[in-house]
Amino acid sequence: MENTENKPQVIVKDVWKLYGKDAKKVFTKKLMQESKASIQKKTGCIVGMKNINLEIKKGEFYILMGLSGSGKSTLIRSLIRLVNTTKGNIIINDKDITKMTKEQLLQFRRDTFGMVFQHYGLLPHQTVLDNAAYGLKIRGIPKGERYAKAMQTLETVGLKGWEDYYPGSLSGGMQQRVGLARALANDPEILLMDEPFSGLDPLIRRQMQDELVELQEKLKKTIIFVTHDLHEALKLGDQIAILRDGEVVQVGTPENIVTNPADEYVQEFVQDASPARVLTASTIMEEPSILAYAWEGPKTVLTLIRSHKRRAAFIVNKSRELLGVVREKELVQLLEQENIPKTIPISSIKKVTSVTEDTLLEEMFPIISQNPWPVPVVDEKNKFKGIVTTDQIFESLSPLGGE
Ligand SMILES: Nc1ncnc2c1ncn2[C@@H]1O[C@H](COP(=O)(O)OP(=O)(O)O)[C@@H](O)[C@H]1O
Ligand SMILES: [Mg+2]
Repeated sequence: MENTENKPQVIVKDVWKLYGKDAKKVFTKKLMQESKASIQKKTGCIVGMKNINLEIKKGEFYILMGLSGSGKSTLIRSLIRLVNTTKGNIIINDKDITKMTKEQLLQFRRDTFGMVFQHYGLLPHQTVLDNAAYGLKIRGIPKGERYAKAMQTLETVGLKGWEDYYPGSLSGGMQQRVGLARALANDPEILLMDEPFSGLDPLIRRQMQDELVELQEKLKKTIIFVTHDLHEALKLGDQIAILRDGEVVQVGTPENIVTNPADEYVQEFVQDASPARVLTASTIMEEPSILAYAWEGPKTVLTLIRSHKRRAAFIVNKSRELLGVVREKELVQLLEQENIPKTIPISSIKKVTSVTEDTLLEEMFPIISQNPWPVPVVDEKNKFKGIVTTDQIFESLSPLGGE
């Protein structure tokens, strides 16, 4: 069963889109190797997509990024055949959509997809509630049921209380929330978003991004999201595909893309991206040299600390849960007592701020500046995984490419 789980939900295979008359003339061995500009010059056909191959897994937040004209909209629209491809296959939930009849396609679109575009596409003479319920109406859902569902999704996107307003009286950000509510009302498996936040002011835009991240944690839908903004891509994406002139030039996690740009075009995109905003604790953490167990005596721990020329040690319990740090100072005090305790008393252990493996370096700056010891990394059960030192943080922030 696990195999089906891992199988991509969306497979784009050798897909081409050529705009223009008699596009098939491009499919000669020689022409197919040539650039978008050259194909256009020789045949008059505009390359929208050139031999695109992608796989998108269920539940993934998948970004399509590239400059204007790189083919992002052509690609995302082709997934529901708002654009008909010229060559290749697009397989979604095991069905080849390039082979569907019109009726099958309409049904499939309604059942599987939600769409949000830059221009909200709201009906101006219908209320927010009717706009949110629109997709359900098309599917023939009775009034009572569709209003109930639409109310629910309006609440999800933070628009409770706005049901009876008309779109024109709402701000851009709120209109886009209506668009999102409308897309979500169908409870689609796959959400397609083509530059949904591009028309919004920077502050509102950031807020919408934050909310979408939060929403996705609950919804866990497959989201395919187009943007030309690198920071948006890095913030939202699990995977990012970068397009240029209709071709995919790189696919990777935000971290891959920033630390290992495939070519100059990608390099250009990422040059002002800060690794602090993509690298996580797990990528740079290391084994702690000074880890002690709570049942060890003060003498053992003090010896350990001194042999490593440190001032403190991390203390864990039997299950390797992090208890805190014990400092040289406290250990010396314990050893000066008349009855030296056999184990380290809780009162000598100082609580520390820890981070989890997915914590961004950026979020760790305030922590490293507070304490003289490295930042401990724990899992969700507070089990000790490793440490991040100040040195490692600064090393990883040196210029991209590691020169
Ligand atoms: N309907 C169309 N007719 C002709 N060319 C088109 C059409 N739609 C898009 N294109 C061309 O296809 C290429 C990709 O466009 P598009 O997918 O809109 O890019 P993006 O969304 O990345 O800005 C561009 O060169 C564009 O001019
Ligand atoms: Mg576009």
